[in-house]
Amino acid sequence: MDRKSILITGCSSGIGLCVAEGLLRRGYRVFATARKTADLEMLAARGLESLQLDVADPESIRCTVDEVLRRTGGTLYALFNNAGYGQPGAVEDLRREVLRAQFETNVFGTVDLTNRLIPVMRAQGGGRIIINSSLLGYVSLPFRGAYNASKYALEGIADTLRLELRGSGIRVALIEPGPITSRFRANAHEMFKRHVDAEASHFRNTYRAMENRLAKPGPAAPFTLPPEAVLDKVIHILESDRPRIRYPVTFPAYLFAVLKRLLPGRTLDRVLGQVGEGENR
Ligand SMILES: NC(=O)c1ccc[n+]([C@@H]2O[C@H](COP(=O)([O-])OP(=O)(O)OC[C@H]3O[C@@H](n4cnc5c(N)ncnc54)[C@H](OP(=O)(O)O)[C@@H]3O)[C@@H](O)[C@H]2O)c1
Repeated sequence: MDRKSILITGCSSGIGLCVAEGLLRRGYRVFATARKTADLEMLAARGLESLQLDVADPESIRCTVDEVLRRTGGTLYALFNNAGYGQPGAVEDLRREVLRAQFETNVFGTVDLTNRLIPVMRAQGGGRIIINSSLLGYVSLPFRGAYNASKYALEGIADTLRLELRGSGIRVALIEPGPITSRFRANAHEMFKRHVDAEASHFRNTYRAMENRLAKPGPAAPFTLPPEAVLDKVIHILESDRPRIRYPVTFPAYLFAVLKRLLPGRTLDRVLGQVGEGENR
């Protein structure tokens, strides 16, 4: 039988790289994508089929999909929408183009790529669409507005897609990680420095504390897990006949899913405000 194939976005580091390698070891045919040439070479050296893909660029998406389908003869079992970044900053400090850029990568890229592959999966009678959301796709923290909004948007898209794909054999699943070891924090810090005028902000003192946290080496937060924790969930989605709709990862992700259901909104705000304060120390 042919090996099952999967296309993964954002494989240069962190979760994408770990999942790509883990699935290769498990016998999948993995199309591991990244933006930079050096990362493509690194992926190829690890035995992965690497392809250039910037999800913020529709032309790049088109070319990658064409190439994958050329190589597979027009089939693809699964797509793991993983590429993304966090744009820190208070909502009042987010310029329109900064918010747009966050959505171009995290949301519009994901939907564009997914939409190009749905007809392929419909034609083959099934498939798996996996979206890497976040704990911050269902609860909000201060100074994460752009990222929160992008992940809430992905949750909405996934919930709608699932209804629209009923009976197609295509399963849609969301992964909702809490803190995972990766380059996420370093990349978020870079985006903060690039896009937010900290000194001009009402929040400049808070930002100093936040930058100290973003620049700190070591685990970002309590209960941080390695990316293998996400790999386990991806394997379940790919190999179970009826994958679940949502897969929280890490203790905080489970905890806040429960708290969100149980606590009145203002009480949850107080808890999240305190988490946000702690994070900014
Ligand atoms: N780490 C966490 O605590 C955590 C928690 C919840 C959810 N997540 C989600 O997990 C996913 C992976 O993040 P990570 O933690 O593994 O962080 P990471 O190490 O920073 O990896 C992010 C990946 O996304 C890629 N990427 C960013 N913009 C892209 C674009 N326009 N086109 C293609 N690729 C792009 C990056 O590529 P470059 O190297 O080229 O920038 C990198 O490969 C993200 O969607 C993130 O929101 C992470």
